[in-house]
Formats: sequence, structure tokens, C-alpha cells
Amino acid sequence: INVDASKSIAEIQPTMYGIFFEDINFAADGGLYAELVKNRSFEFDSPKMGWQEPNSNRHSLNKNSGIAKIINYTDSSGNENYARFEINDASGYEIINEGFRGMGIKKGENYRISVMTGNVNGISAIKFELLDENGAVFGEASIAPKGNDWTTFETIISPSKSAEKATLRITFSGKGSIDMDMISMFPEDTWKGRKNGLRKDLVQLLADLQPGFLRFPGGCIVEGRTLEKRYQWKKTVGAVEDREMLVNRWNTEFSHKLTPDYFQSFGLGFFEYFQLSEDLGAEPLPILSCGIACQYNTGELAPMESLDPYVQDALDLIEFANGDTSSKWGKVRTDMGHPEPFNLKFIGVGNEQWGQEYIDRYKVFAKAIKEKYPDMIIVSGSGPSPDGEYFDYGWEELKKLDAELVDEHYYKSPQWFKENADRYDDYDRNGPKVFAGEYAAHPKAEDGPKENNLEAAVAEAAFMTGLERNADVVYLTSYAPLMAHKDAWQWAPDLIWFDNLSSHGTVNYYVQKLFANNRGTDVLKVSSNGNKLIGQEEIYATAAIDSGKGEIILKLVNTSAENKQVQLNISGSKFKSKADWISLSGDDIKAYNSFENPKTIVPVENEVKIKNHRTVELAPNSVNIIKLKKS
Ligand code: AHR
Repeated sequence: INVDASKSIAEIQPTMYGIFFEDINFAADGGLYAELVKNRSFEFDSPKMGWQEPNSNRHSLNKNSGIAKIINYTDSSGNENYARFEINDASGYEIINEGFRGMGIKKGENYRISVMTGNVNGISAIKFELLDENGAVFGEASIAPKGNDWTTFETIISPSKSAEKATLRITFSGKGSIDMDMISMFPEDTWKGRKNGLRKDLVQLLADLQPGFLRFPGGCIVEGRTLEKRYQWKKTVGAVEDREMLVNRWNTEFSHKLTPDYFQSFGLGFFEYFQLSEDLGAEPLPILSCGIACQYNTGELAPMESLDPYVQDALDLIEFANGDTSSKWGKVRTDMGHPEPFNLKFIGVGNEQWGQEYIDRYKVFAKAIKEKYPDMIIVSGSGPSPDGEYFDYGWEELKKLDAELVDEHYYKSPQWFKENADRYDDYDRNGPKVFAGEYAAHPKAEDGPKENNLEAAVAEAAFMTGLERNADVVYLTSYAPLMAHKDAWQWAPDLIWFDNLSSHGTVNYYVQKLFANNRGTDVLKVSSNGNKLIGQEEIYATAAIDSGKGEIILKLVNTSAENKQVQLNISGSKFKSKADWISLSGDDIKAYNSFENPKTIVPVENEVKIKNHRTVELAPNSVNIIKLKKS
């Protein structure tokens, strides 16, 4: 392998390796968003879903002891319902929230309960108790509600033990009635200690990737199955209690038998996504509806003459992110606690959309956005080719329109990823740049996280050498989907798996981390017998220089089941003989990281000596990062 370190052949964008967040697999509610109470404001289509009262099968208590009646606000602005509890016999009434497949509770942490109450009449106290899987109480706290006007009360529960599938029981003292809404419980220990914020372990996994961008809020959920059910960012900002609940596109109603209770509370909304991008040091990349519902479902179209509100949403979003505090939407951001702009540079128009209908709508968006914000970079979508083989349909039309970045998606076999490491070698250098916005190697249609195996991860790494080698045309890339709850997923493989207490990175996660943490600033020329190294002897390679750190970074992937000896010839630069070699490998290509053994395959770092000419041995099924310090 010859590496010419004398000159850069292409710049690597800081956005090269990013993350794509979608609220699929309980990634937001039940995942990243640390709320533990499901359906906290009685807004699901079936308003008591997630709550159990004495008259439910699980309880043998007196069904005449009390009842929760669901009432509509007369003047609602997003928050439609609240519950009126009428208590006849407090000793016989309880209501239990089941959480998102239970509630993960950790001993040693505090949990903040908050609840809005109003019209308090005869009720002197409300008790909150944590119950374990056997119904035993292991933590409790009370509040003393009063007053007719809606008032928020808070209390803290300190559990005496941990439980993965706890529930929350609510009981009352007194006889009478009380209105309640937004019954909520969060750990106090959230990411950056933000009140009612994000789950710390999950954000840490994201932060460790050092992503160049954060694409949000999805995928298919952007488009909606119908236009009415599309993601509308304006309904996700401002006071949390006023954000309008929406059925999730990945609810059983549309996709999966396991999740009839999948709704979007939008507690994790657009403000929080921008804030998360800022925390991660990642460019925010929001994708908006272009007026076409998911073309795999209804494909409903907003007529061209009715496109204005959709376009206005895009313009207003830019103002929300970047506008002066005196602008209408800049003020909304300021009132939410962020007077400084979020410095939005990219905006996506449509996800996975194609055909003339898309092009017609894209043109209207592009014109309006560029007229007002000429520097904004627009990401356009693409769709499946008629033969279903590729997901880059629409490029030719977009090229003619001088599109800047085209979002391509591919979920393919590991073999496909290895065979396509040269995918971008012949892309037009004068056309739009590539956003490989969703990709993952899918080994087999097995169930569950086993699909996140070493075989898939190494194939992705082989392919990623091609992404990096073509950094002059590939500007952004992200694996998808990002996260999955072990008891509530719709799609696998996924990069990160979690349950209510723990989370872990898959082998694929560590591949992403190796590439993103060792990105470099410029691509170097790598060759083998005068050719690019794209699978000869089952070896793939790319090299970069990090001009800031003064490092030469080699990425070598061995997709074979055997050790491979390679002769490294590095010319054009002097470097110290001591190098860091980080490698990830395993003998069993079916190996994967599980909840029981989350570290089965993780990168290992060693210090080695490298001279200009040296033979190195690559382990079977391995991804290797060799970092040399320039001298
Ligand atoms: O990543 C899962 C889904 O795959 C996304 O929602 C969609 O964009 C793609 O079809």
C-alpha cells in the first residue's frame, strides 16, 4: 500500500461523519427524552392509554371508589385534554402509569415529579409511589394541592433500589375532585443537568461520536403518512404543555404490531434539537416536509397553489434558528432561553421524495429560500430507482437545477457495501455534492439486534473508505437508524440499543466512531500497484492528513476471514516512529454487542513502531486506524 503524504488530493468536510436522529424505535419518547410517564397529559388517541384504574383487569379494588374523567379544554392551544379525578373512597382508588415498557429507576438518583392541578375540591394530598415488577413500593413522595387555577406542584422521589420496569402509582387523600394534567416524572440527573431534559447515557454515546452534524427529526416521520400527520416544527416549540401530540408514523396503525402506544409528545422538539446540535458541536440539519406525504404510503400531495404554508414553515424555521431577537421567530427562540442564534447553515426539503411532483415543489422552496437567505445550503431528497436497486433517483433533474446537496439512502447487504466502495469514484465533480443520509448493511432478515454484527460493520467500514476517498464529492454521511429500544423497535439494525436502564454501542457504532474521531482534514493518495485499493485481496484503504494535529491517519479494512500482511510505503512526509494503532476485529463475523455483553467487539488501542516501509498484519475482519505523528 503506497501512501503519498506530500499533498492533499481533497479536503474533508467537518460535516463528513454525522448522525441522523429519527423518532423511530422509541428513540425520542421512551428514549432520549427522559420523561418516564407515558401519555402524561391524556392526549393519546385513546386518552387513558398507559394508565390503569381500579376497574381495569389488573386491579381488584372497588370500581366505585373513584374515576378519572377525560375533559376537553374549551380554549386549548395544542394541549387538548386533562383528567378530572372524582374520588368517593380514597382508600379504594389508585391510578397507575406503566411508563414506556416500564420505567427505568436507579438507586442513588432523584426523580422529580411534577403535576398541574386545578379546581381542587376536598382533596388534601396526592401520593406518588414507585412500584417494582412485583408491586412492592420502593419510593414515595406527596404533594398538597390547592386552588382553582392551574398550578404546578413538584416533589422528589428517592428510590431505595433500582428497577428496570417500575410503574408509578398515584393515590389521593380526601373525598372530592381535582383536575390534573402533565403528570410527569424525570430523573434529576439529565444531560447537562437540564430540568426535564435528555437521558444522559444516550446523549453521551452521541457526544462520543463527535458528529459533524445532527440531521433531525427523521425520515418518514417528517413526511407523515398523510399531510395532516406530517411533522410540523412550529407545534414542537414553546411551552412543553402546549405542544400538540401527534401519532407517530411508526405507530402500529401504520407499521408495527409492538407499538400501538407510539405517539410524539414533542417534549424533544425543534428547540431541543438545535440545543443538542450545539452541545454536540454538530451542524444542525433539519429536514422539512415539502408538501408530499410519504410516497410509500398515501403520497398525498399539497397542490402547488397551496404550497405557501409549507414554504413559509421553512422560511420561519430559518428565522427561528438565526433571526434577530426582535424578529417574530427569533423572539420565540429567545423566550425559550437562547437569544444567540443557532447558526443554521443547512436545511433539507423533503425526505425520500422523487418524481416530477418533488421537482416541482423543490423548485418553489429553493427559489423562496435562496431569495431570502442566499447562503443557506439546501439539501434535496432522492427516491428509489424504478428497478428498486438504488436510492438516488432524481439526481439528473436536480443536477439541471444546480442543487447543492442530494440526500441518498441505501439499506443493502454487506456484500453490496463491499462491492460499492467505488460508488462515488465516477460521480460528476461538477454536479451536486452527496449527502449519504441513511445507510446500513443489513446482513439477514433475522430478528433483533443480532443483525448489528461484525460482518455488517466491517462491510460498512470498507464502504466508508470509499466515502472518505471521495471527500471532494461526498460532504455528509450518516448511518441509520440511530437508536432502538429493545422492547419497542420497528426497524433493525440500529446504531445504538438501549433499555430503560442501560445502553450500548453496536459494532457498527464503533466503526462510525473510529471514522468520525479520526476524520482528518485532507485526503491523501493511496494506491496498490498503481490502483485504488478497493477490495483487492479483500483489503480497503484510505488515508488522510490532519493538518491541525500534524497527523497522518491510515484507515485499513480487512474484510477477509484471514490475517493479511500488507507492506506500507509512506512517502512524502517525515513522521515519528511511534504510532497509535486502534483496531476493531473478531474471528466470528456473526459476533455482536448485546445487553449482556456490550463490549464483545470494541476498538483496542496500542502503540506500535512504524517506519516508512514496514509490513503490518491486519487481523481477520478488522478495521484499523493507524495514526502517525509528523516529525
Ligand atoms: O431509517 C428508517 C427509515 O428509512 C426512514 O424513516 C426513511 O427515511 C427510510 O425509508
